[in-house]
Amino acid sequence: MGRLRTIEDLGDLAGRRVFVRVDFNVPLENGQVADDTRIRAALPTIRELREAGSPLVLASHLGRPRGREVNELRMDPVARRLEELGGFEVGKMDGWIARPGEGEVVLLENLRFDPGEEGNDPRFARELASLADAYVGDAFGAAHRAHASVVGVARLLPNAAGRLMQREVEVLSRLLEGPERPFVAVLGGAKVSDKLAVIDALLDRVDAVLVGGAMAFTFLAAQGAETGDSLVERDHLDTVRAALDKAVRRGVVVVLPEDVVAAPEATADSRKETVPADRIPRGLKGLDVGPRTVEEFTRVLADARTVFWNGPMGVFELEPFALGTRGVAQAVAAASAFTVVGGGDSVAAVRKFGFEDSVDHLSTGGGASVEFLEGKALPGVAVLMEE
Ligand code: 3PG
Repeated sequence: MGRLRTIEDLGDLAGRRVFVRVDFNVPLENGQVADDTRIRAALPTIRELREAGSPLVLASHLGRPRGREVNELRMDPVARRLEELGGFEVGKMDGWIARPGEGEVVLLENLRFDPGEEGNDPRFARELASLADAYVGDAFGAAHRAHASVVGVARLLPNAAGRLMQREVEVLSRLLEGPERPFVAVLGGAKVSDKLAVIDALLDRVDAVLVGGAMAFTFLAAQGAETGDSLVERDHLDTVRAALDKAVRRGVVVVLPEDVVAAPEATADSRKETVPADRIPRGLKGLDVGPRTVEEFTRVLADARTVFWNGPMGVFELEPFALGTRGVAQAVAAASAFTVVGGGDSVAAVRKFGFEDSVDHLSTGGGASVEFLEGKALPGVAVLMEE
């Protein structure tokens, strides 16, 4: 495996068509792009390639249509938003054939409407590769998927990473290779089962793990706490116990919530109360970490030199259960550390609470950033390093 190739490695691009795999898998609401973070993040690469004189074929997936055409998942709203943000015209294609001329940018239809995309079908890869003279991989968010447009097309053309891919790999590698200590990971989100592999990998690298979100209740239950009606993944209690044992062996401090904000239901008008995390009454479920927990997390984060945060602390979309996530966002922003936030929800929270300028890196990868930190080789990165 060599080094990650960058745009410079492609040489003079004037007049050469470039296929750019972007990750425009953005949330839509009422047929409009609800969060354009990923579109903005792809702009530096798109602008640079346009300035170099390349006609561009942009391509992405959107949602999970599973090989069928789904009208609500067409790329049209994305093309319109890209035009607005970029200030250039974008030709939206109805399929996957396009031959842009000088100065033109086209966006292909949702790649996942064709079953060949997820199946990494050589026929689909050849079809896409025939549109261009070079390939730029900038879809870090999809780099953990060995799909046709991520791997197959790249193998058929001179290829390199785009600027977003390059930065994501540089930043996340810094967390894997000699991060400044103390290195603190903050993990949240609903399901511990999604995070077991990354927890295991992080325990080899970090000094402390702060656990919030609904996944904390499986940790609390594993220690014998009364978790009321909170979400507990009973099948994973033993794995969580093993992780806690590993933390002790490796001298990693695991901080679980001391108090939680609990309510009968996750609704904005639900009666809520703050209760000790190990004595949540029946009929109540924990929906956010409490103020004492935020204080403790803030204390640990204040001493950190490197921070990685993935997953919200509670149901922050609802105001009564937003304080924990807001508090952690504030503490991460205030830390005198190199700070990285990964995952759609935590990045959305950082933006919602207005701390985006105080975080060093907001990763566009949810699953991809987590798998990268698990130490896995991501197919969409590895292909841009193949000799
Ligand atoms: C993401 O949003 O994490 C990426 O775009 C990958 O999407 P997927 O999980 O549907 O493959």
